[in-house]
Amino acid sequence: MFHMKKIVAFAHVLLAGFSACVVSPTPREHAPIDKERVSAFSDTINKKPVRLYTLKNKNGMTVEISNYGATLVAIHVPDKNGSSKNVLLGYDDINGYYSGKSYFGCVVGRYANRIAKGSFTLDGNVYQLPQNDGLNSLHGGGNSIDKQVWDARIMNDAIRFTIVMKDGENGYPGNVKLTVVYSLRADNSLVIDYSALTDKSTILNISNHAYFNLSGDPSQSILDHEIKINADAFTPVDSTLIPTGELKTVAGTPFDFLTAKKIGRDIDNQDQQLIFGKGYDHNFVLNKSGDGIPAVEVENKTTGIKMDVRTTQPGIQFYTGNFLNGTEKGRAVAYQFRTGFCLETQQFPDAPNQPNFPSAVLRPGETWKSRTSYTFSVVK
Ligand code: BGC
Repeated sequence: MFHMKKIVAFAHVLLAGFSACVVSPTPREHAPIDKERVSAFSDTINKKPVRLYTLKNKNGMTVEISNYGATLVAIHVPDKNGSSKNVLLGYDDINGYYSGKSYFGCVVGRYANRIAKGSFTLDGNVYQLPQNDGLNSLHGGGNSIDKQVWDARIMNDAIRFTIVMKDGENGYPGNVKLTVVYSLRADNSLVIDYSALTDKSTILNISNHAYFNLSGDPSQSILDHEIKINADAFTPVDSTLIPTGELKTVAGTPFDFLTAKKIGRDIDNQDQQLIFGKGYDHNFVLNKSGDGIPAVEVENKTTGIKMDVRTTQPGIQFYTGNFLNGTEKGRAVAYQFRTGFCLETQQFPDAPNQPNFPSAVLRPGETWKSRTSYTFSVVK
């Protein structure tokens, strides 16, 4: 029996090794696969394989992705001295992702961020979603696509994940086929292409919930990172973090990041919005700008690592890890208050209940598409 178990375990690691393909233009540059790590992220759920995939380019960037939640598990980039730093918060094995409550690196939907009281009306029908954040519904209402196994397909320098969100699942109407493609470019850009189709009118807001710490050391606070956000306005919230509907100018507020400043500079100001969010946890209304101009630029002076975020989405949730409190663990630390920040590109939170916000409705026959890229460079 023991012997049998051992063979099965070995076959499992072997199989995992095959599917954990490291994609790069020439097979000779494939990185050696860390078998132990691959094994720690391999499993089977309802007969579906859970695997760790790795994208690697020639400029020292490596990205690990699980098909559980289409989750970014690690992003290694070179720092100003040429040594590799993992700039992502994450767990050490797949079990961490099963039980994790902070949405580390995963794709969130069917409606990212909050819907007030978990309720919305579409074409005269009232829909009720799970209320998993006080009275509100957060990131699809719990046990959503972030807690499911996606189908994966390895492409040239990319991995494509697909999932079907069923009609009625978590209360949402319509069968929605969602595709997320992660591509790693030679210029150290990780490009995420999202697309979706529905068979009934529905609402949709899909994002990635990666937590970054560009120091590469997740025991360090993110408050010394310098950030610039190309947004003249943000959407203020009530005490339950539901937008009031106002688009408020950032001028003269702690939300003005039009010129780069430290995340921590104003974060503890006695500002009602910062008190509600316990820090920044707000949607920024991105200025329309050319493709080349980043929506956000963030930099850590110690490592010199800089990240530019570009997106086709109208908004971005800047969340400074205010709910991290040491209960989630990984990378040899307990993740503490404000040791990671998220830049979740998105439709505006609660848009289905907010007539002034851009519509987040998807109709049959339409294809919803969006693209977000995270580009890493070094400032010496
Ligand atoms: C929300 C936060 C929430 C976090 C983790 C963010 O998108 O804006 O309020 O705590 O996700 O769930």
